[in-house]
Amino acid sequence: MKVSVIGAGYVGLVTGACLADKGIEVICVDKDPEKVRKINDGIPPIYEEGLGAILKKRIGNTICAATDLQGSVLDSDITMVAVGTPFDGKEIDLAQVKDVSAQIGRALKGKNGYHAVIVKSTVVPGTTDEVVLPILEEASGKRAGRDFGVGMNPEFLTEGQAVADFMKPDRIVLGANDEKTLSLLERLYDAFDGTPILKTNSKTAEMIKYASNAMLATQISFANELAGLCSALGGMDVVDVMKGVHLSGYLRPAAKDGSRVQAPISSFLEAGCGFGGSCLPKDVKALISHGEKAGTKMGLLNAVIDVNRRQLLEVVRLLGKHFASMNGIRVTVLGLSFKPDTDDMRESPAIPVIRDLLSRGAVVKVFDPVAIHEARKVFASDPLIYCETLEYALADTDAAILVTRWEQFNRVPEMLAKASPDAVFVDGRRMLDKRSFSRYEGIGL
Ligand SMILES: NC(=O)c1ccc[n+]([C@@H]2O[C@H](COP(=O)([O-])OP(=O)(O)OC[C@H]3O[C@@H](n4cnc5c(N)ncnc54)[C@H](O)[C@@H]3O)[C@@H](O)[C@H]2O)c1
Repeated sequence: MKVSVIGAGYVGLVTGACLADKGIEVICVDKDPEKVRKINDGIPPIYEEGLGAILKKRIGNTICAATDLQGSVLDSDITMVAVGTPFDGKEIDLAQVKDVSAQIGRALKGKNGYHAVIVKSTVVPGTTDEVVLPILEEASGKRAGRDFGVGMNPEFLTEGQAVADFMKPDRIVLGANDEKTLSLLERLYDAFDGTPILKTNSKTAEMIKYASNAMLATQISFANELAGLCSALGGMDVVDVMKGVHLSGYLRPAAKDGSRVQAPISSFLEAGCGFGGSCLPKDVKALISHGEKAGTKMGLLNAVIDVNRRQLLEVVRLLGKHFASMNGIRVTVLGLSFKPDTDDMRESPAIPVIRDLLSRGAVVKVFDPVAIHEARKVFASDPLIYCETLEYALADTDAAILVTRWEQFNRVPEMLAKASPDAVFVDGRRMLDKRSFSRYEGIGL
């Protein structure tokens, strides 16, 4: 079986590399020739633990990259669509999905034998059957379900641990409306023995992805709303409150031997400076808009977004308690990526925080272990001071704001005490012990 993956971004490249590592032949297709060149040289164009090692091992063997979409479709049995599906401010933007669907359809025109087209991008319920399928049929002149198959296979990987997630998935959701496509998909995932597989229709598969992300975003905003309440009421710390909540048997179920295991969902039930990234904000907003278009009042998810919008600037408000004006104040922002172990800055909470600080006239220094090159693109015209080392970032500063929970930041208390002992420290992730700072502010304290 040979697979072509269209879109060699976080999802497409990780999917392609992991399938190739399992022995499946893969062609990763991207319109960006620079990405394609890098992949063929064995260099991952994104930072993701373990990806480089797989590419080095498998390139030219079970995986290659190409810009030729139609040739790659003709040369494969399954095509997975993994292009971007941004939110355009009003609704999901399906331009990339539509564009590649038309190109795949044109390729299918000249293809002998059955071919399955599988949507891996996150798309609102109905897209695969009502948008992708008709485009494929029109461009190919063929019939779905008879001449080719159409399906949906959402991706649940988490950036920063994408390779590990893909290799050991918690579930595999396969959506299709015909048995032939479903069984082809099952064969594709044969090597992932022991993983629960849910077979359903494409629309349900699409909804499962949104339901999963909306649930995670809801936990975060719930914890953040409680953080705001703890601050307002005073005399308590949201960290202690959530610790008590995490001890619940629902979050620490008992194993057969009586021991208890903390459910990973607990990590979403923690106060912080809000969620970001390429998925949660856009997916929740796209689901709200899709639901409202269908006449459903999306009250809860609208509130999730509202809480998050306010939360993004809470760290600046906390800093403001120490300075009448921020004009000319030197502030170090620690962490730029939306979460640790990735260089992805899409919708990172660091962006509104930095922009707000700059608008108040602060002199902003930034440090991140891997996302500096991405930050230079985002803040191309802003006067940021980019720091190569944590030491330099913490020297001669009036304040430091921790935005991303990078492990390296465990050294901050000791380093800040030496480099800038009078600096105010604002912990946007409640990561460090408040007692290790002379001037401390934290979310939900
Ligand atoms: N990033 C994640 O953690 C994650 C997790 C699960 C699902 N998703 C979903 O997966 C999809 C892809 O997300 P991503 O983060 O990998 O996006 P990305 O922006 O990193 O990658 C998309 C790639 O598609 C390429 N592309 C766009 N149009 C193309 C075309 N016409 N031909 C060939 N290549 C084309 C782009 O050059 C880019 O490399 C989205 O729908 C996203 O919501 C993302």
